[in-house]
Amino acid sequence: MSFRIQPSPPARPNRCQLFGPGSRPAIFEKMAASAADVINLDLEDSVAPSDKDSARANIIAAISDIDWGNKTLSVRINGLDTPFWYRDVVDLMEEAGNRLDQIMIPKVGCAADIYAVDALVSAIEAAKGRTKKITFEVIIESAAGIAHVEEIAASSPRLAAMSLGAADFAASMGMATTGIGGTQENYYMIREGQKHWSDPWHWAQAAIVAACRTHGVLPVDGPFGDFSDDDGFRAQARRSATLGMVGKWAIHPKQVAIANDVFTPSDEAVTEAREILAAMEEAKAKGEGATVYKGRLVDIASIKQAEVIVRQSEMIAG
Ligand code: COA
Ligand code: MG
Repeated sequence: MSFRIQPSPPARPNRCQLFGPGSRPAIFEKMAASAADVINLDLEDSVAPSDKDSARANIIAAISDIDWGNKTLSVRINGLDTPFWYRDVVDLMEEAGNRLDQIMIPKVGCAADIYAVDALVSAIEAAKGRTKKITFEVIIESAAGIAHVEEIAASSPRLAAMSLGAADFAASMGMATTGIGGTQENYYMIREGQKHWSDPWHWAQAAIVAACRTHGVLPVDGPFGDFSDDDGFRAQARRSATLGMVGKWAIHPKQVAIANDVFTPSDEAVTEAREILAAMEEAKAKGEGATVYKGRLVDIASIKQAEVIVRQSEMIAG
């Protein structure tokens, strides 16, 4: 047991991150009117190279012109292996209004990637007298990213959130699939002649959650490409929530309500958590460290588990 206290991640709702291409400004107002907690305006892979300059201009204008309510407003810049990223950072930091909250850095491979962006952002923040400190979110979507996930999670005090990007991750890992998240046809075991599908994203998600929880960063599940498959999205989101992730991306507006539903602790879950806390208070008063709740053991560790659910629910309600 380490004597270090596990740091808390930022106390903000992050149940759903809605994406939209910077080259499609007609949907920006709809994104702002959605129920997503986080908005990701994209300059990266949903924008064609010929549209990068105009998408940047659209986003910079929209940051000030649109009422984004109390959402976290984030812009995904281009990867550090492209000729676009430095201009994304410079123009956003010099020209975008104070409403900008966060920059998303895709395809990170090591802590130095974040260091490079941090240096540029810090210099421009100081030069321009920007009063709001921009936070970062990163996408783990390569073999290098997952191999270095812990140093990435520890890389900068600006780092608020980390997502798994299933499509690029699968490509970088050489995975035999073109699916973006979810069940994969060939990832199964056989028992008594029956196929049982397993989850090829599980270990990467668990590695991300561990790195994030160690360093006080929000772990988030990335995209689920088949937006006509609501049940598949819900199943993937439930698995992610069970593993400790706090939210999931939406690449179509119809996914927002499902993500919000899954990542908001249900009334039943909160009631049960409060009952466990009450049962443990009673046990403690009797000098006991463990007791029975609904026929099962609850002990001091159960207090911490129940507190996670209660805190999450209070934070979302607040
Ligand atoms: N945010 C908000 N509204 C959106 C939206 C989004 N990301 N995508 C579509 N809409 C709107 C449409 O404008 C349409 O509105 P209307 O009913 O007022 O006409 C409605 O939602 C239904 O859209 P639909 O016709 O089903 O989808 P589409 O063909 O217009 O767009 C996608 C589908 C997938 C191309 C689009 O959703 C999209 O670009 N998603 C984000 C992609 C992205 O950013 N990828 C990067 C991260 S992986
Ligand atoms: Mg990607």
